[in-house]
Amino acid sequence: MITKQEVLRILEQNKGEVVSGSEIALSVGITRSGVGKVINKLREEGYNIDASTRNGYCLGKETDMLSKEGIIPFLSEKNKGIEIYTYDILDSTIQEAKRLAIDGATHGTLIAASEQTAGRGRRGRGFFSPARTGVYMSILLKPTMPIENAILITTAASVAVCRAISKFDDTLDMKIKWVNDVYISGKKICGILTEAVTGFENGVIDSIILGIGINVNTTKEQFPEEIRDIVTSLSEENVSCDKNRLIAEVLNETLACFEQLEGREFLEEYRELSFVIGKQINVVTPTEQYEATAIDIDKNGGLIVKDSNGRFNTLNSGEITIRRITE
Ligand code: BTN
Repeated sequence: MITKQEVLRILEQNKGEVVSGSEIALSVGITRSGVGKVINKLREEGYNIDASTRNGYCLGKETDMLSKEGIIPFLSEKNKGIEIYTYDILDSTIQEAKRLAIDGATHGTLIAASEQTAGRGRRGRGFFSPARTGVYMSILLKPTMPIENAILITTAASVAVCRAISKFDDTLDMKIKWVNDVYISGKKICGILTEAVTGFENGVIDSIILGIGINVNTTKEQFPEEIRDIVTSLSEENVSCDKNRLIAEVLNETLACFEQLEGREFLEEYRELSFVIGKQINVVTPTEQYEATAIDIDKNGGLIVKDSNGRFNTLNSGEITIRRITE
C-alpha cells in the first residue's frame, strides 16, 4: 500500500512528464518489475499512465483522480505537513471530519471525497454530490481566538474559495451572495456549511468544521431539474481545473484567511465581491418579513440593511433568508 502511494507521489509530482522505471524503482526501493505491477494496479483504479518506448511512465496531464499524493504538490510549503484523508465515497466529509475531531485530529486536517452519499447543505437541505464531478471537502479548524472572530471563518472561506477559483481563470464574473454562496455569472457554483464540535462536558467549541462543495465537471443535464437553472459548474463556465489542485488552493487560502481573522484583512475583498450590497432584498426572519436595501457588511460579517422606514438593522448569518434580489 505504501509502495503504491510512493509510486503515485512520484507520478503526481511529475504529472505530464516521463519518469523512468529505474528511477521510480530506485527511489521507492523496489524492482523495475515491481514498479510495473504497481503501475498496472493504478491503471485498474482509473489512472491514465502512459508507458513510453524509453521504458518510462507518464501520468496523463488530464488525469483527475482524487488523492493525497495529487494534492500535496500544490500545497504551500507551510501546509505540506497537514493531515490529508481522501476517500472514493463517504456519507459526508463533514461527518468524517467530526469523527476525526473526536479522535483528536489537528488544525488544518483536510478530508475530501470523490462522492458523497449524504452531502449536507444549509437549513437541512442536501448537497448534490455525484461521483467525480465536484470537490467535496471539509477542513477541521481549531479556533484559538474569541468566538466573535471565529464566527467570521465562514465569511473568510467564501473569499478563500473565490481566490482559489481565480487561479484557474481570473476573468470570471465571480460574486459572493451573503453569507457565503459563491456565484459565477449569476449561478451558484459553491456552497459552504460550517459546523462546530463542542466539548460534551463544558460546551466549549473544540473544533470548527468548514464544509465546502464546488461543482467542477457537472454538466447542466446532470443537475437535478429543480436546481438546473440556478446552478453552474466550472466546466459549464469553460474553466478546466484539476480537482486536486483546486482542493490544495482552497486549503492554502482558507488557512491564510484563518490567520487574519483578528485583523479581518479579507473583509474588504469580501465587500468587493458581494453582489448583495446596494441591492433591494427581501429579508425573511423567523418572526417577520420585510423589504430592505442591503447597505454594507459590518466588521463581524453581518449584513447592514435599511428598511422602507429608514431603519437600519444588522443581520447575522443563520437568522435570515434573502429570497429576492433586484437592482
Ligand atoms: C449549501 O450550499 O447549502 C452548503 C453546501 C455545503 C456542501 C459541502 S460538500 C462538502 C461538505 N460535506 C457536506 O456534507 N456538505 C459540505
